[in-house]
Amino acid sequence: MIRGVIFDLDGVLVSTDELHFEAWKMLAVELGIDKFTREDNKKQKGVSRMESLEVVLSKGSKIYSQEMKEEFAERKNNYYKKLLEELDERAILPGVTECLRMLKSNGNLIGIGSVSKNAPLILEKTGLIKYIDKVSCGLDITRSKPDPEVFEVAANKLGLKYEDCLVVEDSLAGIVAGKAAHMKTLGVGSEYELLRADYEATGLDAEIDWKAILEA
Ligand code: BG6
Ligand code: MG
Repeated sequence: MIRGVIFDLDGVLVSTDELHFEAWKMLAVELGIDKFTREDNKKQKGVSRMESLEVVLSKGSKIYSQEMKEEFAERKNNYYKKLLEELDERAILPGVTECLRMLKSNGNLIGIGSVSKNAPLILEKTGLIKYIDKVSCGLDITRSKPDPEVFEVAANKLGLKYEDCLVVEDSLAGIVAGKAAHMKTLGVGSEYELLRADYEATGLDAEIDWKAILEA
């Protein structure tokens, strides 16, 4: 029986993936890397800021010191935060609000499991925070997905056993993390890797048999 649902944020509840891509692209251009594409951006889904930077740098040929890498990551985050200034409830993905309301009225606890350090800001700006019982984000963890830490912290904050939680994810790293935490997983999106999840849907606006999932 599922008692808590732990949602990834970027790409599951909000459409911030495009803003991440835009901000990384700005940095890539400044570094003279012109081969960074949307396809590369897919590899950044669910992984930490520093690991995402490595995806960008792997498209160039230069070697940088740790200090320079930290400056690049901070620069990208500043571009990203500038783009987030415009963020509001219009960034909420289709079906999300209805889904969160349904889970709340069903008595389920709702958590966030996101490696983003900007998760609290995004939840505030979109107004989604009012549906969320506990947030586990990049500020709470030392290991990024596919490590299960971010979901374990979420379940601990919710006061739930791991096996009583369902993870909702749009990235392979997140599905692997959810499974490693001994949680059930629902993959949302069209990527074929999501077939590894226990359940899958094209989005939260799709037909989902919530009753079967929650009572399994
Ligand atoms: C994840 C995104 O949610 O957060 C990744 O899918 C991103 O692409 C990661 O790198 C870290 O985000 P932030 O906001 O801390 O740089
Ligand atoms: Mg995601």
